[in-house]
This record gives sequence, structure tokens and C-alpha cells, in this order.
Amino acid sequence: MMNIGILTISDKGSQGQRQDKSGEAIRDAFASVGKVVKYEIVPDEKDIIANTLKKWADDSKVDVILTTGGTGLSTRDVTPEATLTVIDREVPGIAEAMRVKALDKTPTAMLSRAVAGQRGQCLIVNLPGSTKAVKECLDVILPALPHAVEIIKGEVTEHSVQAGIN
Ligand code: MTE
Repeated sequence: MMNIGILTISDKGSQGQRQDKSGEAIRDAFASVGKVVKYEIVPDEKDIIANTLKKWADDSKVDVILTTGGTGLSTRDVTPEATLTVIDREVPGIAEAMRVKALDKTPTAMLSRAVAGQRGQCLIVNLPGSTKAVKECLDVILPALPHAVEIIKGEVTEHSVQAGIN
């Protein structure tokens, strides 16, 4: 079981004016493989997003933080910028895979500027804001996440990988 944090980024959601369906979709997708240990809805404010990501990632209990929303092209969309200020290094393949696979379904997939990266022992992944996009993106990346967490936490040694144990 991975310990996950769900950070929904939405001005309306943070004011209680919109139900957080995408946050619920993340919770459902992780039902059998993850335990939700952090959950919050915050407005599209770069500092608030970055500070929340930092706080959760530095709390050693969270393995993966999934953000949803704020990855697009409107002036209020700042989730990738906030994420880039807190990660130590990017894991570009995660965002690349989400975009490439989603392009088969919708051309607007290319409009998400989502990024993914590591901060310490925590993996942070941006997802778009719609429930449909969350489900489609998680279908693509979920199979790789348990192994990513194992490696980040040092539970898979180079030797065991070479020996084909994992
Ligand atoms: N990705 C998938 N898999 N499916 C989608 O329907 N919608 C796109 C894109 N990524 C979509 C998707 C759209 S319409 C937008 S505008 C961008 O994500 C950014 O969304 P956000 O601003 O809600 O994060």
C-alpha cells in the first residue's frame, strides 16, 4: 500500500462552490493500492500550492502526492510552476506518458502542462482537473507507481533489479 496525498487545486472548490469530483476519482482509483493520508482543496495560488506540497513531501508518511487541476493555459493555472519550485528533479516520463496516451482520446491532452518529480522520498504528480482526465491519466501511470515508490524509498536495490528479482 502506498501512502498518498490528494491535493485538489481549484478556486471554486476551495470556496465550497464546487464538489471535488476529481479528488474523489483519485481516491477511487487508489482504493486497493493506496491509503489516503493527506487531502486538501486549495485555491490556484502558487505559494499556497508550493507550501502544501513541501509540507506533505517533507512529512515522511506520504509516498505519492497527486495534484489535480491548474495545469492548463488560463492565467490562474499555476500548478506546474508551483510544483517545479519544490521538486529536486523531474521525472519527465510520467507526464510524457500521460500526454501521449491521452492524445489517442482527445487532442486537448496536449494542453495540460502537468509535470512530475521527486522531492526527497516523495513523488509528486500533476493531473489535469477534469474527472475524465484524472481517470484516463491514472490508467496510464498507476501500474508504474508501486515500483517508482519502491525505488525512491530504496526498497529495491540495484543488485536485485539486475538479478531480475523485482
Ligand atoms: N488529459 C486527458 N487524459 N483527458 C482529457 O480530457 N483534458 C485536457 C488536458 N488533459 C484532458 C487531458 C484539457 S481540455 C485541458 S484544458 C488540460 O488538460 C488542462 O486541464 P486543467 O487546467 O484542468 O489542469
